[in-house]
Amino acid sequence: MSSTTGLEGVVAAETALSEVDGEAGRLLVRGRPIGALAGVVRFEALCGLMWEGTLPRDAGPLARALGEARAEAFEQLPKLGDALARGDGMGALRAAVAHLRPVEAPWPAPAVAVTGAMAVHAAAWSRIVRGLDPVAPDPAAPHAVDFLRMVHGRSPHPSWAEALDAYLVTVVDHGMNASTFAARVVTSTEASLNAAVVAALGALEGRLHGGAPGPVLDMLDAVGTPERAEAWLRAELDAKRRIMGMGHRVYRVRDPRAAVLERALERLEAGGAASGRLALAGAVERTAERLLRERKPDRPLRANVEFYTATLLEAVELPRALFTPTFASARVVGWTAHVDEQRRTGRLIRPRARYVGPRPSADGAVG
Ligand code: COA
Repeated sequence: MSSTTGLEGVVAAETALSEVDGEAGRLLVRGRPIGALAGVVRFEALCGLMWEGTLPRDAGPLARALGEARAEAFEQLPKLGDALARGDGMGALRAAVAHLRPVEAPWPAPAVAVTGAMAVHAAAWSRIVRGLDPVAPDPAAPHAVDFLRMVHGRSPHPSWAEALDAYLVTVVDHGMNASTFAARVVTSTEASLNAAVVAALGALEGRLHGGAPGPVLDMLDAVGTPERAEAWLRAELDAKRRIMGMGHRVYRVRDPRAAVLERALERLEAGGAASGRLALAGAVERTAERLLRERKPDRPLRANVEFYTATLLEAVELPRALFTPTFASARVVGWTAHVDEQRRTGRLIRPRARYVGPRPSADGAVG
């Protein structure tokens, strides 16, 4: 297949939001290495950095605005009818965002509204499908704390909230990934912010983008113990199946976000607040890396962000089906910042396709 089919290497936009350096294994968010943000700066402050360009000196007003947005979304839940009762979380989020009233207030209010709402919708969906009632948000709680509260129905262990906050910050933005590109394409037609977010949610769902963490845990379950990793992984590769959580379109070294999440998980396990899957995950990662190197010596295939996302989200006891919706609840910050950036360009994104189908012959017949 032609290498143009995946647009690899094509520069489709200019952005001041994040830079992914696939050779050096570096991710900068508004000029700062991701390791200097995750676990250091809270999610609310990162929202300010993304939406307004600078780290707020006081993230209190944004935290309050997000809290109010969560409360407003919860009040509106009954109007969603059965939209949140469907089996798949990403479909539920698309339906819920499609129902949101557009916010006319000045920037960043529209981004705040959809970000606050998505946490409520994801948490409410995960409870409804488990036969539980949704839990009302606490607008005064930090966003990560409240998300865990709304999912579990109780206040989280502080180290769980810290780990989830570090995760949300880690995955907020990542260059021109497929869902961000989808959001920018839709925005470029002058469609609404909510329409762009619905499109991005669709792109994030697939396992080649945001849908891998569930399958990573399925793999860890199937492997069971570090000693079984090699045989299991060899069988998968012999069957021509991809190892979930390994490989990346841009990174040729280990995804720097995997390291950030691994550290957050080490802190959790050291504090005794997680169940100890890190050792198995590490063994599977090292074995997968070695086997992939044997089979594809010219194509470095190393752990990506999803590998440790799975282990971290499992450690804070999120249900597996909620992993991708949780990713969306963080990445919506990046999508909305890109919507704002794309609007400023005022330019329709409209590439061309090289036609390779049939053409009419001289007598007008097609064949
Ligand atoms: N396991 C096994 N083989 C893999 C692999 C994986 N995880 N990732 C890539 N490869 C192989 C491909 O099969 C291909 O082999 P081929 O040339 O014999 O066909 C080769 O490596 C090149 O892969 P390619 O499809 O060009 O990579 P890409 O840039 O399109 O894919 C991903 C990037 C992320 C989609 C891919 O690595 C993948 O599917 N990973 C697993 C899913 C995942 O973790 N997704 C989350 C992404 S953050």
